[in-house]
Amino acid sequence: MPTSIHAPAVSFQAVSKEYATPHRGRFKALDAVSLDIRPGEFLGLLGPNGAGKTSLIAILAGLSRATSGRVLVQGFDVQQDFAQARKRLGIVPQELVFDPFFSVRETLRFQSGYFGIRHNDDWIDELLHHLGLSDKAEANMRELSGGMKRRVLVAQALVHRPPIIVLDEPTAGVDVELRQTLWHFIDRLNREGSTVLLTTHYLEEAEALCHRIAMLRQGRIVALDQTSNLLSAASHTVVQFKTDQALPSALAGFARVTGRIVQLPAQSVAEVEAHLAALREAGIRIDDLEIRRADLEDVFVKIMGEAGANDAAVAGGVR
Ligand SMILES: Nc1ncnc2c1ncn2[C@@H]1O[C@H](COP(=O)(O)OP(=O)(O)OP(=O)(O)O)[C@@H](O)[C@H]1O
Ligand SMILES: [Mg+2]
Repeated sequence: MPTSIHAPAVSFQAVSKEYATPHRGRFKALDAVSLDIRPGEFLGLLGPNGAGKTSLIAILAGLSRATSGRVLVQGFDVQQDFAQARKRLGIVPQELVFDPFFSVRETLRFQSGYFGIRHNDDWIDELLHHLGLSDKAEANMRELSGGMKRRVLVAQALVHRPPIIVLDEPTAGVDVELRQTLWHFIDRLNREGSTVLLTTHYLEEAEALCHRIAMLRQGRIVALDQTSNLLSAASHTVVQFKTDQALPSALAGFARVTGRIVQLPAQSVAEVEAHLAALREAGIRIDDLEIRRADLEDVFVKIMGEAGANDAAVAGGVR
């Protein structure tokens, strides 16, 4: 039973998940994850591929059972009070699954019916409008492009006006314009009181939208804080430039290289100067030099790197 209206919107309590796999044997995808999402909060759940984000959401959705631990939605247990928990959640899944023979409108009416809602066309039309789907309402699902199908998934999650919206990579494969419209709409729902749980690999989206960020790595939470705290704790600077040449070995060790773009973290002005001096001495030609504050992507890379190094140290100590 729900305890009070001040109960967390979602409460993950020591949630673990093991999968039995033919190749890896028993594999622990989630390891005692505890996390409370406050009512009205916009929380980002970030982590590399395979970190366990979708597994956690599947347990929240009641689609998969935790090996141990439990999950409450506004006080309702997702297993014991499935119907009560489920109707409070609007879930946009990562995978695209549809009946190809239904039209967009039929898909949304069918989903409304699943939650016992009739005569929902006003809200369905509003959703279609906000998601840029008005002219596709009568199209069959199989006629839609991948990005349009994802828009329908978002509409489908929202047909029953759930107080808690869960988005598992909603912008994967979605064009820039829709991303902006989608965020505008989700941000509005959040301002009007909806709680939002978002996973994304677009860290600039998470930085712009999320009040708080949880970072998951190999099934464990390795960071959980206000977005602004995470950013200010990583108070370092980044020296960013483009080059076609190989970096001197002194810099190559900690540089982040993406194609021609090189990013070097620096803890102080002296270190910025040292990096530039090392580049000059090595005769590296650089373009588009920029010195900027660390962003969420830098913080993410740093935290994941540190967590990996800790794991390696623990494993090394055991040997
Ligand atoms: N049904 C399953 N059976 C066995 N292993 C699974 C199953 N589902 C997920 N896994 C494994 O659990 C781990 C976590 O997967 P999950 O899909 O939760 O990651 P994720 O964080 O959502 O990753 P991504 O960013 O790629 O979506 C992975 O190692 C994955 O291979
Ligand atoms: Mg996933």
